[in-house]
Parts: sequence; structure tokens; C-alpha cells
Amino acid sequence: AAPQPLAGKHVLITAGPTHEPIDPVRYIANRSSGKQGFAIAAAAQAAGASVTLIAGPVELRDPQGVRVIRVEAARDMLAAVEAALPADIAIFAAAVADWRVAEQGGQKLKKDGNGVPPLQLVENPDILATIAQRQHGRPPLVIGFAAETEHLIDHATAKLQRKRCDWIVANDVSPATGVMGGDRNTVHLLIRDGDQIRQEAWPLMAKDEVATALVQRIAD
Ligand code: C5P
Repeated sequence: AAPQPLAGKHVLITAGPTHEPIDPVRYIANRSSGKQGFAIAAAAQAAGASVTLIAGPVELRDPQGVRVIRVEAARDMLAAVEAALPADIAIFAAAVADWRVAEQGGQKLKKDGNGVPPLQLVENPDILATIAQRQHGRPPLVIGFAAETEHLIDHATAKLQRKRCDWIVANDVSPATGVMGGDRNTVHLLIRDGDQIRQEAWPLMAKDEVATALVQRIAD
């Protein structure tokens, strides 16, 4: 049988985008495919973990043997994460919308001849920061992602400090990389080590391989 280094561990993973409703038929979204988070869920399951995957709207099938909870908006994702705790390891790979529409209409917005509707945005909860800063029941290992189009390491380091997670998987999502929606990824792993931050540059790999390598690092 395959080695099961994560046997007995509960791994909680968020993946995909969120959809923030504008009215009953429209929403704000982003280009996250969910592929990297789903690959991590499959790899953690293969390593023997009990896995809960909380997924925004994506066109991917449930990985085998993984408990999948499908949600739409950021606030639903946070509620699902809190309901799924406790966890030994939490990995926040979702591309959560930073903002939602302040007042979501109960009816479809109409072109009524009075100009364009003003869309007032308000901030969504930061799920990673909320869980990483919990006083009670914080998972012992909290891992965030940083998708950046410039100053990758600086921005990822700032994120690690500000959100107070333990590791950050940083990836360059500039359009030229093809990472968003694609099957490959080049990541840097930032690891908090006391007051220091250690940094590993990983080569270009398939998202499945990034997932396996990350699960291996967790097991180590
Ligand atoms: O700040 P930024 O969105 O770039 O941070 C990325 C990390 O924070 C990812 O791990 C993402 O899943 C998480 N995040 C979150 N909730 C938010 C925004 C980001 O969990 N509202």
C-alpha cells in the first residue's frame, strides 16, 4: 500500500473563486479555476488524511474520498470553514473576492432610463486571517497562498506577517505565466521559522506535482 504520512490528520482546504451576488442573476467573480486547491485535496487524501474541501463555484469533480462542501460567496465560505473545524492543517487556496456588493437587490436590476446603477462595495471577511488569528482552535499549521503579478516575494512576505499564517505558497499569476486556469505552476514556499522567514524556490511543475510536493513538505 502507498505510504500514509497524514493518516489521522484532518486537512481543511479552500479552493476556487467566490461569487458575490449583485442581484438574483448577476455576480462578481474572478478567474480562479480551483485546480491547485483540488489537486492539494487529492494529494492529502492520497497521503491518508481525512480531507474537507470547501470549494467556490468551479467546474471540477469531487476528488475521490474527499468531503466536498460547495459554496458561493465569501461569507458562506467562512461559515463552512468554521463549521468544519477543528483541523490539524488548514490550506487556504481559494481566490476569495475582496469585496461584495453592499446591498444586494432582491430583484434583477433594470435599465430604467435613470443612468447606470451605483454599485457600492464593502469588504469581505478575510477567511485566512480570521482562522490564523483565532484564540481557540487555531489549526497548528495554517497555510495561505499569495497570487501576485509583481513583487512576488515582497508581497507574499508582507501577507505572511499581516495575516499571521505559518507558510505562504507564493505564485506569479501574470497573464504571460498561464497559471490562472492553466495546469502548471511555479511557486515559492515561504516558511515562518521563529523570527526568520525561510524561502524555497520550486521549479515549474504541474499543479498535481506542486500538490504532491506541498503535501510531502507538510508530512516532513
Ligand atoms: O490578500 P490576498 O487575497 O492576496 O491573500 C491571499 C490569501 O488569503 C489566500 O490564501 C486566500 O485564500 C486568503 N484569503 C481569504 N479570504 C479573503 C481574502 C484572501 O482567505 N477574503
